[in-house]
Amino acid sequence: MNKIAKIFETLEYGPAPESAQPALDWIKAHDGVFGHFINGAWTKPGKTFSSDNPATGESLAQVSDGSAEDVDKAVKAARAAFKSWSALSGYERAKYLYAIARLVQKHSRLFAVLESLDNGKPIRESRDIDIPLVARHFYHHAGWAQHRDREFPGAVPYGVCGQIIPWNFPLLMLAWKIAPALAAGNTVVLKPAEFTSLTALLFAEICEKAGLPKGVVNIVTGFGETGQAIVAHPDIDKIAFTGSTDVGKAIRAATAGTGKGLSLELGGKSPYIVFEDADIDSAIEGLVDAIWFNQGQVCCAGSRLLVQESIEERFIRKLKLRMSKLRVGDPLDKAIDIGALVAPVQVERVRELMQRGVEEGGSVYEPDIDLPAGGCFLKPALITDVSPANTVVAEEIFGPVLVAMSFRTPEEAVALANNTRYGLAATIWSENINLALDIAPKIKAGVVWINGTNNFDAAVGFGGYKESGFGREGGKEGMGVYLKPAWEKDLKPAPAAKASPAKPANPLDASQGIDQTAKMYIGGKQARPDSGYSRPVFGPAGNLVGEAGEGNRKDIRNAVEAARAALGWGTSSAHNRAQILYFLAENLQYRRAEFAARIKEQTGEKGEAEVDAAIERLFAFAGWADKYDGAVHNPPLRAIAAAMVEPIGVLAILAPQARPLLGSVALLAPALAMGNPVVLVPSEKSPLSMTDFYQVLETSDVPSGVVNIVTGDSAVLAKTLAEHDGIDAIWCVGDAATSTMVEKASVGNLKQTWTSRGLNYDLSDTEKFDGDYFLRRATQVKNVWVPYGA
Ligand code: NAI
Ligand code: MG
Repeated sequence: MNKIAKIFETLEYGPAPESAQPALDWIKAHDGVFGHFINGAWTKPGKTFSSDNPATGESLAQVSDGSAEDVDKAVKAARAAFKSWSALSGYERAKYLYAIARLVQKHSRLFAVLESLDNGKPIRESRDIDIPLVARHFYHHAGWAQHRDREFPGAVPYGVCGQIIPWNFPLLMLAWKIAPALAAGNTVVLKPAEFTSLTALLFAEICEKAGLPKGVVNIVTGFGETGQAIVAHPDIDKIAFTGSTDVGKAIRAATAGTGKGLSLELGGKSPYIVFEDADIDSAIEGLVDAIWFNQGQVCCAGSRLLVQESIEERFIRKLKLRMSKLRVGDPLDKAIDIGALVAPVQVERVRELMQRGVEEGGSVYEPDIDLPAGGCFLKPALITDVSPANTVVAEEIFGPVLVAMSFRTPEEAVALANNTRYGLAATIWSENINLALDIAPKIKAGVVWINGTNNFDAAVGFGGYKESGFGREGGKEGMGVYLKPAWEKDLKPAPAAKASPAKPANPLDASQGIDQTAKMYIGGKQARPDSGYSRPVFGPAGNLVGEAGEGNRKDIRNAVEAARAALGWGTSSAHNRAQILYFLAENLQYRRAEFAARIKEQTGEKGEAEVDAAIERLFAFAGWADKYDGAVHNPPLRAIAAAMVEPIGVLAILAPQARPLLGSVALLAPALAMGNPVVLVPSEKSPLSMTDFYQVLETSDVPSGVVNIVTGDSAVLAKTLAEHDGIDAIWCVGDAATSTMVEKASVGNLKQTWTSRGLNYDLSDTEKFDGDYFLRRATQVKNVWVPYGA
């Protein structure tokens, strides 16, 4: 048989190699060694390290190991460039972003080949997915640059942004960071991952070609230490990080108290849910893209298969058959499905985790397929016979390894899907659109794909819930993390609180003439403090005006438990929440005189104006409850992406000392309007306005557990709340030390924080605070992708 006839017979793939030569020529033109790109010029290479091709183990080039001095130079350049860059018109910035997009497109093949060489990903992916998305990202953000002021009135860029990216999508992650930062008017210092620096360096040349003003984009290469130097640099205003959850947490801790902006896009263990009525063949193809795309080194990889029990056996059988057809090989071969992992250390990490899986009782299936000799190649793998507590089910493997479990009912699918500390993405397969759209909002993840997977677009925000991080990349919300209100830079330190009169030496003396201690309010009931102690509340002249409970860890625990039981508040209708907020306003109005008198008693100030302001604020957020909502995006696919605004979860609030009523209500109202149950610590000095508020809550149909109030020492309770894993977000009005402590202690479950850092946030200012300032912080956006077309 001749060769062609034989190929017809066997339908064997022949090699379809892409030439590496243009990329190698580019490296050669730089003599195979690179400095950093700082202030529009290349530094002389200092200490260097090798960037390798993981498919062969060969060195591709030497790149410089950035020192703290290099980082400092880059920050100085970015700082110097910021003034003129941020002063350009939106149209001028747009033209630069457009020029970058055009140049990326023009050199797209070179970028794709270089990316596949340095990272090991199949050329089919770098050519058809990574690089086109990079160009799309710059095009999209050219528009945001131009329309920034119209769409984000009163907002200004942070200044200098430090950006640290991983190796799995080197150029795409660069684009996700640099495009919005520049569009917003920031300048950047970016560090690529140590395994994959080369496309970032080629990108630096694109910036030169685009005539980007020097210092606007600076690229410093290096390892984790270089990243640490960026995080620690005092003149960086915002840090954006994508990478492992461990490093993300270290960065959260390192930036605590610095006032730096922070967005984190971290790991995942995303569920891939297949219902019995799914189009099974499509779901299998989707699964290939979910877990074997980029060798499984994808933060949002569908790495946890949850398949309905009734179809489990058939599905797994088909899956194994499909796995046996996957082709692992030379990343530059255009007919390859799976390329090389990024580095030997990653192969080791994946093997170790698989070994753990086996030790814990899992069964590993690997198809009988060929692997190239040498290089960082692994077969696609499936682990079955696992349960939720197994390491391979709980931990991100970041390799071509799928774990599979089954479920019986939709409720069980949701419970399993959410049984993870992560919350980046999820996939749902079902031909029943009602079922799919019922499940999507119930899954705690930033992106949900229905009957599809791993779709990305610049217009659609991407980012996580829970320990997958916070902040979004792409879309309007992605622009939002690179902008802040202009007035924030003018905030002055808050006036020092007047010291409370000393406690009487004998605790018994405190209660003279007071026969009632205000209790806590937990789960819709008044509760005695667990400590059995109360604290005196003094008026302006040092006179005793009442007593409040001394809250402790146990009271907080009970309050959090009650709040978690009330999470259904977030799925009650927005109209319903609006009605309840209006009702609160109305009932407070009835008691205006009483609340005014209480304010006067505690602060000496005439209370009417504060009560009126609190009523107005409740009205304002009642009005917002059914208006601050999402959008529908039209990505360039046959799909819509519904950007749903969802509550974050249980929100802890530490209210300011001043304005005992309005200070609490100003924070409570937006949190409640958006559907977050709250644990509130009212003013430590003057808690009685909020303990009186219990009765308003009770007469206003607020479901039990939606508002929980614990009185006591703010700083002590702040620490307990910040450390509590049942709290999803925390807002703290407090001094610099308390704010720093709250940010640091939030690391455990990566709760989202807002702190006043001892600055004078005047919550009575309606212009600043009855709009989206707190609404944005009370919500997170989930994008649900829904394909259409028959
Ligand atoms: P990594 O999180 O250490 O690296 C990401 C980036 O952060 C790199 O640029 C690195 O140089 C930098 N970096 C490292 N330590 C730093 C520090 N202390 N301060 C500032 N920057 C620092 O990830 P690594 O070690 O490459 O991979 C380890 C595991 O992390 C993977 O197996 C995977 O499970 C996970 N990972 C997850 C990613 C995701 O997108 N979800 C991306 C990369 C890794
Ligand atoms: Mg490499």
